[in-house]
Amino acid sequence: MSKRLIEVKDLSIQFRSERSWVTAVSRVSFHIGAGETVGLVGESGCGKSVSSLAIMGLLPDRRTCRAQGEILYEGRDLFSCDRESMRRIRGNRISMIFQEPMTCLNPVVPVGKQIAEAIRLHNRPDRREIDARVVSLLAMVGIPDPKGAAKRYPFELSGGMRQRVMIAMVMSCSPQLLIADEPTTALDVTIQAQILDLIRGMKEKSGAATLMITHDLGVIADICERVIIMYAGQVVEEAEKFELFDHPAHPYTAALLKSIPSLSNKGKKLYSIRGSVPSPGSIEKGCVFAPRCSLAKPRCLAERPELRDIAGGHLCRCWEVD
Ligand SMILES: Nc1ncnc2c1ncn2[C@@H]1O[C@H](COP(=O)(O)OP(=O)(O)O)[C@@H](O)[C@H]1O
Ligand SMILES: [Mg+2]
Repeated sequence: MSKRLIEVKDLSIQFRSERSWVTAVSRVSFHIGAGETVGLVGESGCGKSVSSLAIMGLLPDRRTCRAQGEILYEGRDLFSCDRESMRRIRGNRISMIFQEPMTCLNPVVPVGKQIAEAIRLHNRPDRREIDARVVSLLAMVGIPDPKGAAKRYPFELSGGMRQRVMIAMVMSCSPQLLIADEPTTALDVTIQAQILDLIRGMKEKSGAATLMITHDLGVIADICERVIIMYAGQVVEEAEKFELFDHPAHPYTAALLKSIPSLSNKGKKLYSIRGSVPSPGSIEKGCVFAPRCSLAKPRCLAERPELRDIAGGHLCRCWEVD
């Protein structure tokens, strides 16, 4: 097994509501090995983004948000890092791309200049070297006329092109861990495939470990080695990709797999899971998925199942699976 690059241990995250704290992420544990690609999958509102923001040290401030547990990066606890070391880790070691690049690109600065800034943060080559590097990065991520594109403002580029710019920025600092939070969700289907190819290519070239966050198991199919399924703030299943696709154990995973559009069910109405993700803290006892689960028994509504190993590293949180 590869060395553990990052290890999330018993991570819980609460947000302040009017009267109390509500738990959005509950005792989540997982690890990512050096160079490994892991998928983090679940419907919207399951706690995927806040978990990744915790890794990045970017959770909202303590008055509104608090976290417990440990996040170890090469054995070092990120929660006890001071702000400056965290900023350095974020710049050099762990990078993130988001669903909507506009949230992290500065709208009033040409994209080439923003990439140049990112390069300058990490090393200090001279101006000409930086300009050449900006153009080569833009070319590498498939932006036509990279020299001209460098002078453009983010709003002058399409969503797909902006995501390419973000990827160029990430590549400028060759991180050891890349977190991609729904990088293709906001894009057209044809562009989605191109961006995924680009991420895959970048990953292969740089050997960076990747946490690929998505609500779409279809995205996971050809990019990840291992998959973690999250539901309502908990990990409900974890397995190697092929094991998960061939033997999904948790009813939630099975339902997610059934809702992937495929050629074989073309023309039929697409399956969708009844109901919706509960709001944080609203299910106090029993399995968090029980209210939507077609297999739920009285015990499922009464007692909370633990995550347990059901077959050589295949983890599942369900009373009905043995
Ligand atoms: N800043 C915040 N303040 C209050 N609640 C939040 C905040 N950010 C996220 N949440 C809540 O935490 C839960 C998980 O959110 P999130 O991690 O964004 O889900 P996902 O990325 O899986 O769609 C949601 O119920 C969301 O409403
Ligand atoms: Mg999210």
